Order: sequence, then structure tokens, then C-alpha cells
Amino acid sequence: MHDRASGSRTVPAVFAPAALGPVTLRNRIIKSATFEGRTRYRVVTDELIEFHRRVAAGGVGMSTVAYCAVSPEGSTDGHTIVLTPEAAPGLRRLTDAIHEHGALASAQIGHAGPVANAAATGHPALAPTRFFSPLAMRWTRAATEDDIARVTRAFADGARLVAGCGFDAVEVHLGHNYLLSAFLSPKLNRRDDRYGGSLERRAAFPREVLAAVREAVGDRVAVLAKLNMADGVRGGLWLDESVPLAQLLESDGVLDALVLTGGSSLANPMYLFRGEAPVAEMAATMPRATRAAFRLVAPRMMPAYPFEEAFFLPYARQFREALSLPLVLLGGITRLATIEAALAEGFDFVAMARALLREPDLVARMERGEAAPSRCVHCNKCMPTIYRGTRCVLVEGPDLAGSRTVPVGVSALGS
Ligand SMILES: Cc1cc2nc3c(=O)[nH]c(=O)nc-3n(C[C@H](O)[C@H](O)[C@H](O)COP(=O)(O)O)c2cc1C
Ligand code: SF4
Repeated sequence: MHDRASGSRTVPAVFAPAALGPVTLRNRIIKSATFEGRTRYRVVTDELIEFHRRVAAGGVGMSTVAYCAVSPEGSTDGHTIVLTPEAAPGLRRLTDAIHEHGALASAQIGHAGPVANAAATGHPALAPTRFFSPLAMRWTRAATEDDIARVTRAFADGARLVAGCGFDAVEVHLGHNYLLSAFLSPKLNRRDDRYGGSLERRAAFPREVLAAVREAVGDRVAVLAKLNMADGVRGGLWLDESVPLAQLLESDGVLDALVLTGGSSLANPMYLFRGEAPVAEMAATMPRATRAAFRLVAPRMMPAYPFEEAFFLPYARQFREALSLPLVLLGGITRLATIEAALAEGFDFVAMARALLREPDLVARMERGEAAPSRCVHCNKCMPTIYRGTRCVLVEGPDLAGSRTVPVGVSALGS
């Protein structure tokens, strides 16, 4: 490890065990959350276990079970895991399967807020301030202080539940304009109470949640937050506020690491992926009546960005300079050389998503010295597969949920 205070630095090895707060990963590579689309009835299925078993057997240090909603209204559509006692036996089987292959298990917990598809969840989407949601094609509901207290409790209860099911880490979703990220956004949060206004006030709800999560899991489980560095939306969160925000989170002393992300599932989804926008494939998941309209608005709603290796690195460096908190570099990591360079720059872990959808055994192959870069071509055609069993379209796989269409609007665009 490196001693950031003294400036002396030994570059850590990629494939050596590494501490993340109270737990130790066998290496420095984390499977980033990719909503798996295998939880039609809101509980773990054998298909979901098999998905993570393959990732764990493929050599990662830790696999992140994507998006577990802390309450029914916090799910992106009607098919995400909701952290209720009914989900517990399946979650236990899931962590057992991941552990059997030597990896640790992390649960991404969150509340979708304005990113929820209200037509599918049956609840109005919760937001800091009321606005018309293009995803749900209806108005969001401004959270009351009672809602904030209730959702904070739900995060604590959810974290306690996953800790009790054997998860080694909890990743709190503070990104992509989900509820907590929406509170951080100066564009989406126009409140004038103690949860809106200055950065400190906009950060109050996320900080209360993180403190409640830490209290719930104690000191045996690592607590991470996946934080937006930039929303990629005019008037949204950007580095001038996200770096001081990360310093506030560091000073709270509850986090073991920050996972650095960006983008908005609400208003700019391709910002967090880069590469091609899979417009035709997204349209095909929608009811016929909305397809043509979607194709028309898609170039504005989901502008494409060219893919670059480690595309978030220039932003993430600002955080590395400003913080001593362990950091996870994410975004477009496909090569062993990139991972080594990230560790040399002081990042503690890397997270990979699409490269491991394409090849779940990529890490093991890298470790064996077969250092070929990932075969992922950044086409993003895996994005719309979240509605029927998330997979790389270049890999043969079952269409797990049939040809389910999304009720209204675009839904969460996989993040
Ligand atoms: C199909 C798919 C589903 C995703 N689902 C989630 C999710 O549930 N939660 C989340 O935070 N990010 C999600 N992401 C974003 C990834 O975790 C990651 O931040 C992003 O893909 C960039 O990493 P990469 O370049 O290694 O793919 C998803 C990505 C893909 C491709
Ligand atoms: S579909 Fe496959 S190749 Fe295309 S971006 Fe997703 S993982 Fe990569």
C-alpha cells in the first residue's frame, strides 16, 4: 500500500490480497454492478446465482450484486430485488455461491427516486422536488421530511439484512441521479428546507443515510458509496462540488471507499457508458406505441460519447489528489496495463462492468498472463437486455424472462 500522508508510495500488486476496510479481497478487481434482470419476482433466482458464480469463478476479488431496492417504491421497475425478509434466504444462497469461488460479495443498495418507472412500480417516483419525469411520463412526488426519515430507515434495514445474509460489503448508490444523487444535484434539488440549497444541505440526506448504514452493519462489513463525479447534465453536479462533497464524506469517517462514477440514468445515460447508443435495441423493448416517439427523442435523450479506455480517469484524478480515502476507479477499464497504471496513480481498486459481461473469466486469464484486452466492443447492446436477463449479446445465452416489454417510458436504462 502507499502512505499518502508521507507521499512515499509502493505500487500494490494487482493480484495480491488487499484490505477494503474490515474485509480482504484476493485481488484489486471488483465486478461493478450490472443490473442482472434475473429477479422477476423480486427475490434471488438460480439464474442470478449462476451469473455471480461465473463471475466469482472467473477470478474477481469481489462481485457486486446489482441494484437491491431498499423499498418497493425505490425499485427501478417492478422486477428488482427488494430488501425484505422474504429475500433473505436467496441472498444467503447467493453469497454462499460467491464465497465458494473465493470472491467476496457486495450488495448495491439504493432508492431509484426519480429514475423509478412509476408505471411499473405502482408508486409515484420520489424526488427532491416535483418535476415531470420523461422516464415515467408523469410527475414525480417531492419527498417530505417523513419520507426522508422513512427512506433512511429503509437503507439501514436493507443494509442490516444484507449483512445478515453474508455480504462482505454494502455499496450505497449515490450516483446516476437515483434518489440520493438527485438530492445532491443542484438541478433536481430546488428545496428550500434543510435538505436543499447549499452543498452541505443537499448532502444532508445522503450523509444521514451513510451514517445509518454504517451503524446498521457495524464494523465487520465494508461500506462503499458509488458517487457521481459529474451528472453530465447542464446545471447538475460537477467537480467543483463533487470533490468538496467527497471531502465531506471522508470527514464523516463512515466510508471504507468511494466508487467514482458519473452520468444520469434520467437525462444522460450514455455518459456513464460511452460508446454507441443502442437506440434500435432500446426501442424494441418498448410497447409499439412509444417506439417511434422514442426514436425521435433518443438522439437528444441519450447522446453518444466516444469510448476511451479509463474514460473517467481525468475526473477521478481530482479526487485522488484531494482525498486520502480509498478510491475505486471505474469506467472503460479493459486492459491489465490500465489496472496497473491506476494502482500506480494511487487508486486502490478498479471496478469493471461490461468487460466482465463479455468475459466473466477475464480476470483469471489476466492473472494467468493471457493479457489480451477485453473482447467487449462497447456497443452497449447489453443495456436493453436488462429486461430479460442481462448478458453480452456476443455471448450465447438464454432469454430468461421472455420478451417482456417495459410498461411506459424508458425505465432505468440499466443503472
Ligand atoms: C447492462 C448494464 C447494467 C448496469 N446496471 C447497473 C446498476 O444496476 N447499478 C449501477 O450502479 N451501475 C450499473 N451499470 C453501470 C456499470 O456498473 C458501470 O458503472 C458502467 O458500465 C461503466 O463501467 P464499464 O466501462 O466497466 O462497463 C450497468 C451497466 C451495464 C452495461
Ligand atoms: S453487448 Fe457485449 S460487447 Fe457490447 S458493450 Fe455489452 S458486453 Fe460489450
